[in-house]
Amino acid sequence: MGRPIIQYPQDMAAVQELIWKVRPDLVIETGIAHGGSLILSASMLALLDMTDAIEAGTTLDPRKSSRKVIGIDIDIRPHNRAAIEAHPMASRILMFQGSSIDPQLVDQVRQAAKGYKKVLVFLDSMHSHAHVLSELQAYGPIVSSGSYCVVFDTYVEDMPAQFFPDRPWGVGDNPKTAVHEWLKDNSDFSIDRDIETRLMVTVTPDGFLRRDR
Ligand SMILES: C[S@@+](CC[C@H](N)C(=O)[O-])C[C@H]1O[C@@H](n2cnc3c(N)ncnc32)[C@H](O)[C@@H]1O
Repeated sequence: MGRPIIQYPQDMAAVQELIWKVRPDLVIETGIAHGGSLILSASMLALLDMTDAIEAGTTLDPRKSSRKVIGIDIDIRPHNRAAIEAHPMASRILMFQGSSIDPQLVDQVRQAAKGYKKVLVFLDSMHSHAHVLSELQAYGPIVSSGSYCVVFDTYVEDMPAQFFPDRPWGVGDNPKTAVHEWLKDNSDFSIDRDIETRLMVTVTPDGFLRRDR
């Protein structure tokens, strides 16, 4: 829908299926980049509104929907912000600039998330173990029961050592190692392996975390 997205196509299909399954009223995403994933989520929320209206036999006014996407990025480039703000889906999108683990920013997001009942979270910013672990600690509790926290790029752990020579993450220090550590203390969540099994090829192995209670 007009913005570049930095996602593996299989995982985009999984995102679409998850939004349909969970029917969230709020999606929180860390990592905006060009805005493609925000627009994908926002457009799926618009489809949820449309199908709700069809089922209820009412007229749809998408500008009145309360379904929203919150995006967080440490560096929202002006041209990306301008393009996202000019997009037809813009009224559904709220952006915060800052580190996704900055306590003040986390507090702002928590305030903005108040009142929403079904919250879905996508973590796709900095892929080091420490950063993702902090994100899980910050945003995991906001995920509603029956919904998901998706941690992207867990595949880094399964790649050859030195595959990411110029990155602050690699084998032993990445989203998957963070997921495994976080799950030890967060038994409300479990890995939904059915999703990755169906995808067959994914950058998100062990990254689809369902909140069971
Ligand atoms: C992989 S891209 C996000 C891609 C986007 N979700 C998509 O699907 O198109 C990662 C983004 O994380 C952002 N980022 C890096 N470190 C961050 C941090 N500490 N807090 C928030 N965002 C960060 C980068 O600026 C970059 O835009």
